[in-house]
Amino acid sequence: MEILRERSTTDQVWQAAEEFVLLFHRENPQAGDPRRRLADVRAELADTGTYRHTAQELAHGARVAWRNSNRCIGRLYWNSLRVRDRRDLTDADAIAAECFQHLREATNDGRVRPTITVFAPDAPDRPGPVIWSEQLIRYAGYGDHPSITVGDARNAPLTGALLALGWSGAGTPFDLLPLVVQGVDDKPRWFDTPADAVMEVPIEHPEDPGWADWGLRWHAVPAISNMCLEIGGIHYPAAPFNGWYMGTEIGARNLADTDRYNLLPAVGRRLGLDTSSDRSLWKDRALVELNRAVLHSFDRAGVTIADHHSESRRFLAHMAREERKGREVGADWSWIVPPISGAATPVFHRTYDDRPSSTTYVHHVGAVHRAQGRDLV
Ligand code: ARG
Repeated sequence: MEILRERSTTDQVWQAAEEFVLLFHRENPQAGDPRRRLADVRAELADTGTYRHTAQELAHGARVAWRNSNRCIGRLYWNSLRVRDRRDLTDADAIAAECFQHLREATNDGRVRPTITVFAPDAPDRPGPVIWSEQLIRYAGYGDHPSITVGDARNAPLTGALLALGWSGAGTPFDLLPLVVQGVDDKPRWFDTPADAVMEVPIEHPEDPGWADWGLRWHAVPAISNMCLEIGGIHYPAAPFNGWYMGTEIGARNLADTDRYNLLPAVGRRLGLDTSSDRSLWKDRALVELNRAVLHSFDRAGVTIADHHSESRRFLAHMAREERKGREVGADWSWIVPPISGAATPVFHRTYDDRPSSTTYVHHVGAVHRAQGRDLV
């Protein structure tokens, strides 16, 4: 669901700011009494219509925003998020360069590190920079219908817009799209993704050597780049962040969904399954082998990846730990339960409260349209 990007009044900003500063001081007792800071924030707000987070507030806010991400199963490590403070950057060139550097540092030769880079916030007199691409790494999709698309059908609209602007790709199923960035007071521009910023994993099957020649691959790092980081009433529209993958995201969704790579029929044939009847459960068997292949390949390449059984247990450990600290954990069941073998994981067998929080990552209106390259040309 998208949330309207309304300009908040100074009053609303103050309310959110007060709540955040109190939380920051509660969770960081070494920061001392919040009253001084609150007075400073109030004065700065009255003076300028906004206020500037300290580096510590920004880092804690970005981590709490992860902690509050109700759709994320991987929140156990929220407090170890690496925060790259690049709030001084507003130009597309500089932002793109830092996004690519983010990828290099987050990839870390395969030992993936959860990382966020925060660029300039919205200001009262002008919106901040924004990244049009939904992730820092995306594969092109060529074609206007999923059944005929080469590559990732999800990215076909953006690919079409980029082609119209003069970009060209090799036409393989795994061409890297350029990154589309709009700086402050500028139009969107695209930047070729340097090969050394992107690690990819060739997909192989643990028993069937034939898969290696198939040419399937996926990138090591999922880095969401079109969600707005909101902390204490301040909006950071360009704040790309990454964790590491859970195997099912790739094996049960990206490569399997009919409106993505739609590979289940090809996997089923490769496995020699009877694909003529749903009741042979060929799709289910194909899903399991595809997911085994993804986990096996990442392990073999030395790239961090979680499996859905361990990650489900970690999530419940996270909930227990948070509750011990007196904090309630919001969660969205339909996102937390893995897309295969749901009931075989413990996260299935309970309910959650999907409460919203004010410090969080949000899709604002326009984010999805931009990710599709609408109005880019
Ligand atoms: N599901 C998305 C993808 O497959 C990535 C979402 C974030 N995932 C993560 N493990 N941090 O690319």
